[in-house]
Amino acid sequence: MLRIGIEDAAIATGHYFLPLSELADHNGIDVQKYYVGLGQEQFSWVAEDEDIVTMAASAAQPILAPEVKTELGSVLFATETGIDQSKSAGVYLQSLLDLPKNIRVIEVKQACYAAAAALQLACAMVAREPNKKVLVIGSDVAKYEMGGTGEPTQGAAAVALLVSASPKLIEFDATTGVFTNDTMDFWRPNYSTTAHVDGKTSISAYLDAVKGVWQDYQAKGGAPYSDFARFCYHQPFTKMAAKAHRTLALENGIRLTSPQVEEQIASTTVYNRRLGNSYTASLFSALLSLLENDNQDLSGKRIGLLSFGSGSVAEFFSGIVCPGYQGHLRGKDHQQMLADRVQLTYEKYAELHERSLPTDGSRFQNPIVSTGAFRFAGLADHKRLYEAR
Ligand code: CAA
Repeated sequence: MLRIGIEDAAIATGHYFLPLSELADHNGIDVQKYYVGLGQEQFSWVAEDEDIVTMAASAAQPILAPEVKTELGSVLFATETGIDQSKSAGVYLQSLLDLPKNIRVIEVKQACYAAAAALQLACAMVAREPNKKVLVIGSDVAKYEMGGTGEPTQGAAAVALLVSASPKLIEFDATTGVFTNDTMDFWRPNYSTTAHVDGKTSISAYLDAVKGVWQDYQAKGGAPYSDFARFCYHQPFTKMAAKAHRTLALENGIRLTSPQVEEQIASTTVYNRRLGNSYTASLFSALLSLLENDNQDLSGKRIGLLSFGSGSVAEFFSGIVCPGYQGHLRGKDHQQMLADRVQLTYEKYAELHERSLPTDGSRFQNPIVSTGAFRFAGLADHKRLYEAR
């Protein structure tokens, strides 16, 4: 039987981070609301010369060894902070990463759910053509209005997943549960650079979806709750994963105490507490956080993954952690990446938040700020210009 799953994976993030203590001081909020109430400590922010493409290229670069490139069949780029209404952000990666010409590249959108959708498409593609690998990327900059309640839940990151018939991290089960509910809890009109959100509605839409996907998964003969060693949830802020986990347990007749919830999801929240919301990437940085930080050997254990994208579409899927997975992780790199970020003052953050790019087609150069392998160099003739260093 064909095994399909994640062979390799990596995270990239922005050059900067803002400690939420800075935001709390400025907004006159008790910082415990952010630390405890939302479960967030910091958020990443992109430099002037970074965007979803540079983060995506940085995430994908370490997993694209020359022999992997020759086996690549498709690139599926998931984002809800797209940079163009027509050209897929993934196509820029061909030049930046020297990808082959005989690949298909598309962009996938449905809020934070899009990367999970791309993953399901990738599994189907690998089933059809097992000798080809699929690069799935989730890359986003989560940006809300300054001073609004969404502001502490901003963030930026990209996750790259190599999906193939030779998984080394996790092998996916075929059964999934899906749930769609047309609701206006969170959206971003084409003319807006910040997301619009009805925060309380978004939380209840998420929790309704937790029940909806689980009921569908069970109706399709999915594994029982007791089969799962760990659950990873989409984490717009890590406390949301706690709410989701408590809801899923209750759906299965189990009333968890707060310390039990915390203990069961803690290892999935290590990165997102510091990255902030990375929308499409968030669930998969939770998965890598689990694999890289849990103190149990998860080999052969079943993990549940729950993706939620406002609007809303959700999916519950599962996989078995591959024996020997520890030898294929990049935990040290990810810790280093977080440690290397440059701390923002509130004033610099505010300047970056309100910064806008020309829209008249004039030539414009971004300052050289970031130190990573890829830069968003500027604009000319309405085209974005990228550079690989
Ligand atoms: N110490 C400790 N905790 C405190 C506190 C203090 N001093 N003050 C408040 N709190 C707690 C509150 O009790 C509350 O906890 P519970 O949720 O457990 O009750 C928590 O901090 C948040 O407080 P509020 O409910 O008053 O928060 P808020 O009105 O400021 O907004 C929010 C919170 C709605 C999440 C807002 O940040 C927001 O709109 N965020 C963006 C939307 C979002 O992330 N929605 C999540 C679901 S949608 C999704 O998942 C898709 C996506 O990525 C966007």
